[in-house]
Amino acid sequence: MKILVTGGTGFIGSHTAVELQEQGFDVVIVDNLSNSTIEVLDNITKITGKRPVFEQFDLCDQSLTADFFRRHNDLAGIIHFAAYKAVGESVEKPLMYYRNNLQSLMNILEGMLANNINNLVFSSSCTVYGQPDELPVREESPIKEAFSPYGNTKQISEEIIRDTLKANPQLQAIALRYFNPIGAHPSALIGELPLGVPNNLMPFITQTAIGKRPVLRVFGNDYNTPDGTAIRDYIHVVDLAQAHVVALNRMIEKKMKKNYEIFNLGTGNGLTVLEVIHSFEKVSGVKLNYVFVDRRPGDVEKVWADTTFANQELGWKAQRSVDEMTLSAWRWELRLAGKLND
Ligand code: WQD
Repeated sequence: MKILVTGGTGFIGSHTAVELQEQGFDVVIVDNLSNSTIEVLDNITKITGKRPVFEQFDLCDQSLTADFFRRHNDLAGIIHFAAYKAVGESVEKPLMYYRNNLQSLMNILEGMLANNINNLVFSSSCTVYGQPDELPVREESPIKEAFSPYGNTKQISEEIIRDTLKANPQLQAIALRYFNPIGAHPSALIGELPLGVPNNLMPFITQTAIGKRPVLRVFGNDYNTPDGTAIRDYIHVVDLAQAHVVALNRMIEKKMKKNYEIFNLGTGNGLTVLEVIHSFEKVSGVKLNYVFVDRRPGDVEKVWADTTFANQELGWKAQRSVDEMTLSAWRWELRLAGKLND
């Protein structure tokens, strides 16, 4: 069966393409390479022995997208990752984020309707919860005002999907709300490859440790947490990728209880920034150079997932430890620097 993975040369998309191929699916990747490189295709192929079909174009282009779906009207499903995702950049350039993230989704939904493609897995984010009133956060927890235009595009996207499915009940969709994906494939052939200065914690840690960055700035150590640093639910990217295949199979095998389901994808375990740093230092043997600075505007203090629904309904549970996450991230950074002795 053929699956479209949009944004499939990106961090989570590439890991999901690997898992799909290893479970026997044929993968078609569409990516405009605005935030990734074509070499990722070679590395996916090295891992699985199968090269995904690849087409480079912008999913915001309505005619190119419609043409793509006409040529691939035998798709068994779509996993939609392609979107801009830098929180800070979205505050500076909101219109770019609304146009890109919403237009591409609408073009995909139109392509599905026009070609009787009925299964969509959508890449959403825990950012839709903002700072939850109660923790751990459940799928029914209130959606609060988004902290950024990026987060708002995820909220609006979920609503666009909801309304489209109401009008077209033959469609099925599963939205997966990620918490904090980190780490890399154990082969160290694919991983998180932020272009420019990383926004996210894990690549900043590994780039500081390898010497690309002089120091890691820890944003705030005055939070109401055990060590004063903020808490997040970090999840291994391979655990996350595997959840996408489980969700896809749930739709293909018609096991859904209703045509739109939403799942939190986390470990259910919150970790502070310092706990992640200490894990990294332990597994890498590198003493990290970091300093405490002011809180980052827009950051929530603490968020972690209630994963009961995903564990029970999807039959999926994150398996990998924080040490496996930080070690795999380090091996990937070593590979990038040509220093991995595998
Ligand atoms: C994690 C913690 C920072 C960098 C964002 C998006 C979310 C998802 C994941 C896309 C926070 C601290 C970070 C640094 C630091 N993205 N930190 N120094 O902000 O929880 O989530 O990325 O889907 O939607 O909101 O992730 O990795 O940026 O930060 O101290 O140099 O690490 O303050 O507490 P975040 P993050």
